[in-house]
Amino acid sequence: MLLSGKLVAVPAETVYGLAADATNPEACAAIFEAKGRPLFDPLIVHVSSVAQAKKLAVWSPLAERLAQAFWPGPLTLVLPRKPTVSDIVTSGLETVAVRMPAHPLFRKLLKSSGRPLAAPSANLFGYISPTSAEHVYEGLNGRIPAILDGGDCPMGVESTIVSLASLKKVQLLRPGAIPRGKLQAALGADIKITRKRAPVEARLRPASPGLLDRHYSPRTPTNLLAKFPPRMSSEDAWVHFRAPAQGPSHPKNHFVLAEDGNGEDAARSLYRLLREIDQRGFRSIQLERAPRNEPWSETLNDRMARAAAK
Ligand code: TXA
Ligand code: MG
Repeated sequence: MLLSGKLVAVPAETVYGLAADATNPEACAAIFEAKGRPLFDPLIVHVSSVAQAKKLAVWSPLAERLAQAFWPGPLTLVLPRKPTVSDIVTSGLETVAVRMPAHPLFRKLLKSSGRPLAAPSANLFGYISPTSAEHVYEGLNGRIPAILDGGDCPMGVESTIVSLASLKKVQLLRPGAIPRGKLQAALGADIKITRKRAPVEARLRPASPGLLDRHYSPRTPTNLLAKFPPRMSSEDAWVHFRAPAQGPSHPKNHFVLAEDGNGEDAARSLYRLLREIDQRGFRSIQLERAPRNEPWSETLNDRMARAAAK
C-alpha cells in the first residue's frame, strides 16, 4: 500500500504515526488532507539506517554523536536538508526532521519498503496523539485505508525534537520521550541545550508547529494546576500526578497518572487517560503539574500545558 502511494497508520515506540512514502509528494500531501493538518506544519521522515538519513539531510559530527547515542529511538534531529527532499515534507523549510524509530514493526516496514517514511502522529490535527490502534481508528476511520496494529505504544509520548541547524548549539524544539537530562549526558558538558520557544510574532509559522500553544488537546475544557484545592467538585475530573496520600472522596472522578509517581509511567498513561476522560462528559479536566525534581516533568508539563491551552 505504501509503495502505491497510500497512507498506513503504523505503531512507533512513541505514538502511532500516519505513514506515507516520503519520496512520493502526492502521498505526503494526502497525509495533510487526512489529518486536517495545515501545510505549514512539516513532517518527520523516518529512516531505517544512518545511510538513509544522510541521503535526506546534511550530516554533522553532532548528528553522528546523537544518532549513536539514541537511534533507533525517540529522538528526532532537525538538520539542513538535501535538495532531493520534497517541499511538501519540509513545508518549504531549509531543514528536514529525521528519526530512526525503535518499534520492531515500524522498522520492519521501513526495511521491507526500502523507502523513507514520512509520518506525523496519526490523529486529527490538534487532538490527542494516539497510543493504540483503536485511538487511530476513532479519529481516522474512513479517511485512511489501513492501520498496522502493534498494540499499545511502549512510551506513549512523542519523540524529543532537537535542531542541529546551527553547528555548535543544540536547540530543544519539543521535549519528549528522551528527557533533557539524558540528552545532556550524551552531549557532554561542553554543549549547551537551549530551549527554543515560539516567539509571539512567529505563531503562524513557528520553528516547530508542535509548539503551537493549543495542541494535543481534549475537547473538555482543561486546566493545569500546581496544586489541587482542598475541595474538589465531583463534576470535574481530577488527574493526580501520583496516588494521593488520603483516598479521594469521589473516587469516580479522580484519576492517577502514575501510582508511585514515576514520570516515565505517567508519560505512558497521559494520552490514554485524557482520551478516556474526554469521552465521559465531565465539566472540566483538572491536571496536576508534575513535580520539579522529576526528570520527565519537562515533557509532561509541556504536554499538559498544551492540553490546557485556551
Ligand atoms: O514520536 C514522534 O515524533 C511521532 C512518531 C510517529 O514518530 N511523530 C510525531 O510527528 O509526533 P508530528 O508531526 O505529530 O510532530 C512532529 C513535529 C511537528 O510539530 C513539526 O512541526 C516538527 O516536528 N518538525 C518537522 N519538521 C521540522 C523542521 N524541519 N523544523 C522544525 N520542526 C519540524
Ligand atoms: Mg502530532
